Amino acid sequence: MPATTTAISRALLLVGVVLTAQLCGCTAYGGDGFSVEFIHRDSVGSPFHDPSLTAHDRVLRALGRSYARADAPSAHGVVSELTSTPFEYLMAMNVGTPPTRLLAIADTGSDLVWLNCNKKGAHGPGPAFAGDTPTPPPPPPRVVFDPSKSKTYRLVGCDSVACRELPDSSCAAGDKCTYYYYYGDGSATSGLLSTETFTFADNARGKRTTRVPNVNFGCGTTFVGSFIGDGLVGLGNSNLSLVTQLGAHASVGRRFSYCLVPYSINASSALNFGARAAVTEPGAATTPLVPSRVKTYYTIDLVSVKVGHATYKAPHRSSPAIVDSGTTLTFLDKALLDPLVKELAGRIKLPKAPPRADLRLPLCYNVSGLREGQIAAKIPDVKLGLGGGAAVTLKALNTFVVVQEGTLCLAIAPAPERLRTSIIGNIAQQNMHVGYDLDKRTVTFAAADCARSYPANAPAHAPAHAHAHAPVPAPAPAPSGSV
Ligand SMILES: *[C@@H]1O[C@H](CO)[C@@H](O)[C@H](O)[C@H]1NC(C)=O
Ligand SMILES: *[C@@H]1O[C@H](CO)[C@@H](O)[C@H](O)[C@H]1NC(C)=O
Ligand SMILES: *[C@@H]1O[C@H](CO)[C@@H](O)[C@H](O)[C@H]1NC(C)=O
Repeated sequence: MPATTTAISRALLLVGVVLTAQLCGCTAYGGDGFSVEFIHRDSVGSPFHDPSLTAHDRVLRALGRSYARADAPSAHGVVSELTSTPFEYLMAMNVGTPPTRLLAIADTGSDLVWLNCNKKGAHGPGPAFAGDTPTPPPPPPRVVFDPSKSKTYRLVGCDSVACRELPDSSCAAGDKCTYYYYYGDGSATSGLLSTETFTFADNARGKRTTRVPNVNFGCGTTFVGSFIGDGLVGLGNSNLSLVTQLGAHASVGRRFSYCLVPYSINASSALNFGARAAVTEPGAATTPLVPSRVKTYYTIDLVSVKVGHATYKAPHRSSPAIVDSGTTLTFLDKALLDPLVKELAGRIKLPKAPPRADLRLPLCYNVSGLREGQIAAKIPDVKLGLGGGAAVTLKALNTFVVVQEGTLCLAIAPAPERLRTSIIGNIAQQNMHVGYDLDKRTVTFAAADCARSYPANAPAHAPAHAHAHAPVPAPAPAPSGSV
């Protein structure tokens, strides 16, 4: 399946799909929404965890994955290259009847939901990236979804709305809708557009399950690229995404939230849908979504960057910034980044280390022999001024990252000029509860302790060491407590 530029460009300009008609009048939704387990791909709780890598190797690889996106071919001048790539976090879900438990990458930068249905598990090589470590071959997917074993699996016909609205599809013999879906980093997948019953187990509420029939998804038979996981769940802003499909049911609404556990912590956190996605922590700051050149992306206005009393205003009053948990680093407009680097360099009294030009990180320090708390105390907060008067405080954890033993670098790189947009990446979002409300068209940020946001981690419920390995019980075959 050659990833022709035409096809990529079509995929990047994803058009939404009217899918609401495909959903039943489901009785299985909880009116207050639900939460599922959400784990970092490199945490020890993840089946994709590679124990041979050190914590620093993992950071380097994640940075490398960021650049694989940044360096993707850009012939089309759209903003998507950096962001149309998966999240670094996996969500737990159960598909089919009886259900198969899968861990799929959650991605705010794309829309299609797809699962690996290929029993042979064929993979192509991942794209090369900058940094010290060569691209490893992707690990084989762990779980294959076998549609022949499910009573609720259905194919979607070529004349269906969903099939016609796919960015790239064809009609195979027997009225089978074949999709081709391309990501900005060169990864791609194809398979048959299908529907299935998805069941979400909510550990927060005594393993109660929420069952959603007729979710449109791609049953993937080929895939090329660097994906890990058993599939991918698009959480973008367009009609095909899981959040939009769930939101077709009024009691859930089109909203979700997540809390990103810091890279260095093994705990799981929660990905929330419906009412449970409300961000109500003290100090929550809400900013409006603004129109995006690519509808899939969540774009907000970045107005200023502040350190202490020094404020730097965005050129032309405000500049667009995509909130993307799939990008590791934050990328800032040079007009904001240059003065920020100067200001931080003047304030941070730590021994300088040479900048990591290979990683495009402009400001580094030698922190060998210092403890985390000592380092954090020397790094001032950075405040992002957002549209609508909202302000988000970035702490040391959000602005700096240890790239190798003893070397700490600012985790903010210049935004490639062709993008003409900043990106707020996942280092900047660690230990924040971030909620997206597509109906109100807002994004809300609040400081949070994400490792404590998921009940399985809370010390009152389980010993601290148990969280990462605690198996999530298979859901009951029939819906349990749903209303
Ligand atoms: C997405 O769905 C909404 C609601 O059904 C519809 O109004 C809109 O036209 C759809 N957008 C696209 C691009 O299909
Ligand atoms: C995570 O788990 C690994 C292996 O069990 C352990 O070596 C490491 O110290 C843990 N890290 C944290 C931050 O708890
Ligand atoms: C960092 O400083 C220590 C001394 O405090 C020195 O031994 C080490 O070589 C320095 N590392 C780098 C990368 O400059």
